[in-house]
Amino acid sequence: MMDIIEKLKNEESFLWLQGPGEKLSPYNLDDLERARDFMQSFAPFLMEVFPETLRTQGRIVSELKELPQMQKAMEMRKGRLFGKLDNDLPVAGSIKARGGFYEVLHHARSLAEKEGFYKGNPLNILNHREFFHNHEIEVASTGNLGLSIGLISASLGFKVSVHMSADAKQWKKDLLREKGAQVFEYPGDYSAAVEEARASSMEKGSYFVDDEKSPYLFMGYALAAYELKEQLEEKGIGGKALYVYLPCGVGGAPGGIAYGLSLLLPQAKVYFAEPTKAPAVLLGMLTGKHDGIRVADIGLSGKTDADGLAVGRASSLVGPLMVERIEGVYTLEDDEMLGYLKMLYESEGLKVEPSACAGFKGAEFIDEEGIHLAWITGGKLVPEENFLGYLKKAKDIQNS
Ligand SMILES: Cc1ncc(COP(=O)(O)O)c(C=O)c1O
Repeated sequence: MMDIIEKLKNEESFLWLQGPGEKLSPYNLDDLERARDFMQSFAPFLMEVFPETLRTQGRIVSELKELPQMQKAMEMRKGRLFGKLDNDLPVAGSIKARGGFYEVLHHARSLAEKEGFYKGNPLNILNHREFFHNHEIEVASTGNLGLSIGLISASLGFKVSVHMSADAKQWKKDLLREKGAQVFEYPGDYSAAVEEARASSMEKGSYFVDDEKSPYLFMGYALAAYELKEQLEEKGIGGKALYVYLPCGVGGAPGGIAYGLSLLLPQAKVYFAEPTKAPAVLLGMLTGKHDGIRVADIGLSGKTDADGLAVGRASSLVGPLMVERIEGVYTLEDDEMLGYLKMLYESEGLKVEPSACAGFKGAEFIDEEGIHLAWITGGKLVPEENFLGYLKKAKDIQNS
């Protein structure tokens, strides 16, 4: 194990394969079904509040798309390459939308039930903005969870505070402020922002969305498994060997999705992808310390261009739960993510953010026949000038 920690310290890109062991199972299919029914009951609400969800009938779902040009550009000879386009998820444009929307809507329903105006109908919560404005939601974020929570909370009328780490991009802060969220900025890393958010919420008595251990976020993310199962069947590839590569920050979103897949598509082999500079989940799994160790403890900066993955300490919920459920974790460099970003744009015309591209390297590590699915985790809301900046950086790297 020490040689693997040495690889982490040296910021090497490599694949770690997990061995078999005992699985913790705190959630079952009934829990997942309940979460799905809940989100379905809110479809009319979402269509009313966010007309762009009319095209998905009020569902927070994304397309599964084969990427033949990208496969060619990557010179990938075995299997078929697909992307799960969460970069285009309705409203929030990132993988954090499913979990964030589920948790905030769940909270809104609980409050509305207590207050007596819910009456079994989600549409009844539409006309109570003043009531929700007396309630505050707080969250810490490197950017995309903040956008997800900020956008859905603001649509209901909640007061919302987003506590952001130094890695958060300016445009994400600007957009949140424009939508009415209060944004707090901290010079430290993501776990420091989480501490600040938690303390602020304790002091004010607000509702805290805890990215490091929320079971609501987790179940919301897990719902993606229903969607993927249906899409694989629709495309007639449900029975094929399936390799899924999920970009991983604190571990909540990839963990939730992998958990859902373990219940609905147990044949799926899942790999997490982390930046060489911030392999928080892998370090936690290798040492068995999970959230009890930070990447700084092995001398890593945690600083990465992949802002969504710039996390120094893993979720306490996800490590112990997922270590026996995934096949492995791999690390990759920022320059590689930018290289994939450029390649994806030039081959398939997709505009995404650097974190969103971490999945592609999985298809290079796993040289097998079957379906290789890179989960493309964010990008729709990236302003054009920022995207052009990423492209330029990728070109400069290529030419250097
Ligand atoms: C674009 C993108 N991809 C992947 C992730 C990873 O999600 P998690 O931090 O839950 O592991 C994030 C997190 O914000 C993200 O913004």
